[in-house]
Formats: sequence, structure tokens, C-alpha cells
Amino acid sequence: MTTHRIAVIPGDGIGLEVTPAGIRCLEALAKRPGLNFDFTEFPYSCEYYAKHGQMMPDDALHQFREHDAILLGAVGFPGVPDHVSLWGLLLPIRREFQQYVNLRPVRLLRGLTSALRDRGPEDINYLVVRENNEGEYSDIGGRIYDGLPEAMAIQATVITKKGSERILDYAFRTAQSRSRKKLAYATKSNGIKHSMPFWDEQVEAIAERYPDIHVEQYHIDILAANFVTHPDWFDVVVGTNLFGDILSDLGPATAGGIGVAPSANINPDPSIPSMFEPVHGSAPDIAGQNIANPIAMIWTVVMMLEDLGEQAAADDLMGALENVTGEGRVLTRDLGGTATTTEFTDRLLAELKG
Ligand code: NAI
Ligand code: MG
Repeated sequence: MTTHRIAVIPGDGIGLEVTPAGIRCLEALAKRPGLNFDFTEFPYSCEYYAKHGQMMPDDALHQFREHDAILLGAVGFPGVPDHVSLWGLLLPIRREFQQYVNLRPVRLLRGLTSALRDRGPEDINYLVVRENNEGEYSDIGGRIYDGLPEAMAIQATVITKKGSERILDYAFRTAQSRSRKKLAYATKSNGIKHSMPFWDEQVEAIAERYPDIHVEQYHIDILAANFVTHPDWFDVVVGTNLFGDILSDLGPATAGGIGVAPSANINPDPSIPSMFEPVHGSAPDIAGQNIANPIAMIWTVVMMLEDLGEQAAADDLMGALENVTGEGRVLTRDLGGTATTTEFTDRLLAELKG
């Protein structure tokens, strides 16, 4: 019997509504022999901040360290500035645990409608692999002469050999595990003269280790255009932090939207916890009404199960999820239905049992 220790941070807003939906799925799966979860819930959130003056206590990372995975709803709520909730919880977890892979599947689920005309599930099925720890989002830079005509700001991009190698190696291995054996990478080495040619060189070096993978280079501008006009060209797409960030919002926007988009922040070292979270935020505009779409969270739970090595449970949950979307009878409002968060989850659990 394997027991997976899960740190659960429901967070704020609809995080408090979709996280229980995810947990219910895991509890249902744990009724099967050989699979067990030990959940520890942490109340770290904007509400916690209002009481304690910080998003989480000083030893929080230490507490999470004892777990096999972290499941996060969403943090952020009106009254607490977004940079406080982000820099006080999400970013410390991603950076301290070196969760250098941000993984976002872009796949149109059966029964859902794409924002792209005439595109179905067979056309949209790829994986965005974003570098999550360095790149364009660095602390290095500064500004001088504020308020004067000479005012200026500099922001440095940090691309390291080690940081590039590990994300690229992950992306190539992922491409190898999929049937199309294809990898596209984002660059802008025509305009960005130092860091991007360096990134391209790292890609070329790693590619030599994976002769079975077909590699395609795209400048970020045309790559973004091709996500819209030719989503069927792509399988695994890797990019630096900024380019990956943009692509990983653009892709899901073509595949059913924010209510269904899952993500994972992964450190492949099994001794360090990875963090799983839906792409969406706390949605204060619909919080407390039991109408949030729990699909993003449930698909996120599927990604967590895969990462924990529970492929059979992951496949069963994903299969049940797609049966329910495919049937199209019970859907939440954002997908044109009338079901509540609870009603959708009930229908899914019935399908999972069935
Ligand atoms: P948001 O993702 O919370 O909401 C954007 C829009 O999508 C809203 O109209 C919302 O109602 C809708 N929406 C989001 N998730 C949905 C779901 N599951 N079902 C149905 N509709 C859904 O983004 P927004 O409004 O920019 O940010 C709200 C708060 O969340 C802010 O405080 C922000 O900082 C935080 N945030 C936190 C994230 C995280 O914890 N990872 C990520 C993004 C935002
Ligand atoms: Mg983003």
C-alpha cells in the first residue's frame, strides 16, 4: 500500500470551492486497494495574511518539505495587493523547491468548443513546457534619473547553461515519451542578440542526445501566430520563462478557457515536492456561489497522480472527466451549462464509480 502525503492549500476565493472537488476525486480513487492519501490542510491565504501579517509562517516551506506533493487552489483577494500574495506564497514555493518546470497541457477535451473555428480535439493536443526559475524574470536591473528626460531602466535576462540544460532535457524526454517525437522551441535570436543565441546553442547541444526527436525552431512572434492558425503542428513546445508564460496562456485560451486549464510546477527530483495548481486565480467575481468550474482542478489532480506514479488512477480519472464533458449534459456556466460546482463533481464521481 502506497500512501502519498499531500499538502493541501485551498487558498482564497474559488480555491476554497474547487479544491474540495479535487480532494473528493482522490478520496474516491483511494477506495481502491493499493492507493492511499494522507492530506494535511494549510490555511495559508489572504485571510491568513489579514490575521497574521504574512501569507504563510516562516517555517511553511519546512512543513511542505515533509510532503510528496503540494495541491494549491488559488491565492489572491481584493484587499491584499497581488504582489503580496504572489511573492508571499507562490513564488517562494516555486523557487525554493526549484520547481523549474512549468507544465501546461493544451488539449481540447471531448465535447468542448474551441475559440478557434472548426477545430476539434484531434487538432489541439500539445504540451507547453515553460522554464520556471530564471530567464527574463530576474531581480537584476535598476533605474536612474527618475523624473528627468534622461530617465532610464535596465532589466537583465539571466539564462544559465545549467538552467537551460535541465529544462531542455525535461522537454526532450517528454517529447520522447509521446508518439509524435516532435519538439518546437521558442526563440528570438534574430532580435535579442546575446541571451537568445546562447539559448539556441543549448537546444542544439541537447538535441544531439535525442536523435529520434524532430526539432523545430520558431521565433516567438510567428510561434504565437501558429498556435492560432496551426495548433495541429505542435506536440511539445519549450520556451524560456517569459515566452513560456505567454504561450501557456495563449494555448489554453484556444482549448476551452481558464475554467478547464490545469498546470504543474515540477522538480523532477522525487525527494522534493512538486506543486499542482489550476491556471486560474481566485475569481472574486464568482467566489462563494458554488458555480466555479472544477475541471481545471480535477485535471490538475490528474497531473499530480501522474507525477506520483499513479498512472492507472490518473487515466481512470481523466477518462471519467472526458466522458462527462463528451456527454455535455452536466457542465458549469462558463461552458454554457447550468450545473453547480457540486453537481458537476457529483456527476463525475458517479461516472468514476460506474
Ligand atoms: P481569475 O483566473 O481569478 O479570473 C478571471 C476570470 O475567469 C473571472 O471572470 C473568473 O470568474 C473566471 N474564472 C476563473 N476561474 C474560473 C473557473 N474555475 N470557473 C469559472 N470561471 C472562472 O483571474 P483574475 O481575476 O485576474 O485574478 C483574481 C485573483 O486571483 C487576483 O488576486 C490574482 O492575483 C489571483 N490569481 C492567482 C493565481 C494563482 O493563485 N495561481 C493565478 C491568477 C490569478
Ligand atoms: Mg501567466
